[in-house]
Amino acid sequence: MKKIVILISGRGSNMQALLAANLPCTIAAVISNRADAQGLQVAQKLGIATAVLEHKQFATRELFDAELAKTIEVYRPDFVVLAGFMRILSAGFVQRFYGKLINIHPSLLPAYAGMHTHQRALDDGVKIHGCTVHFVSAALDHGPIIIQAAIPVLQDDSAVTLSQRLLAEEHRVYAQAVRWLCLEQVTLNAQNKVDFCFTKQIGHALFSPGLE
Ligand code: GRF
Repeated sequence: MKKIVILISGRGSNMQALLAANLPCTIAAVISNRADAQGLQVAQKLGIATAVLEHKQFATRELFDAELAKTIEVYRPDFVVLAGFMRILSAGFVQRFYGKLINIHPSLLPAYAGMHTHQRALDDGVKIHGCTVHFVSAALDHGPIIIQAAIPVLQDDSAVTLSQRLLAEEHRVYAQAVRWLCLEQVTLNAQNKVDFCFTKQIGHALFSPGLE
């Protein structure tokens, strides 16, 4: 059985979705860079090991990342799952965990890397928004894509309503991606491409606004 470690910084709803998904893996620990991350309490209540490593206590990003790597490696995880972990990771850290490190980002990458994705999508008037689960590479919010979910942007959407509707889909695709990885149905190949061991694919066109 594969082992994962989840990194969070706050609310932890994606973490909670992973914990609830009955995944074919052991959730070895939840680690936060903030002691006040709400997700920590949820994990503790479920009897999952937690650790806090406050980035503010480290003089440089590299020092924090080195200690974070050590903390993670205690658990010898097969995958390190970033779930709302609000820290940019140094190149050295990414290199160390390359192929094991995955993230969920609230946009259809490569569009809207970085922050405030929902407002930026609204400002641009895009009609379809979404989220992306990807392997983490050195470039921020880039890296080989595993799965994306798309949702329509509705006329009256605010950044809040859009993010709320998207969050429900984030929870679904993240659990799916971690399940695939743990079952080795999805792998990262030597050319940095994501291979799927299944050939049957389903999916539907999304029109937004809908066709009449
Ligand atoms: C999610 O929107 C995720 O895509 C982004 O940060 C947010 C974290 O939310 N990376 P939560 O802490 O999982 O509730």
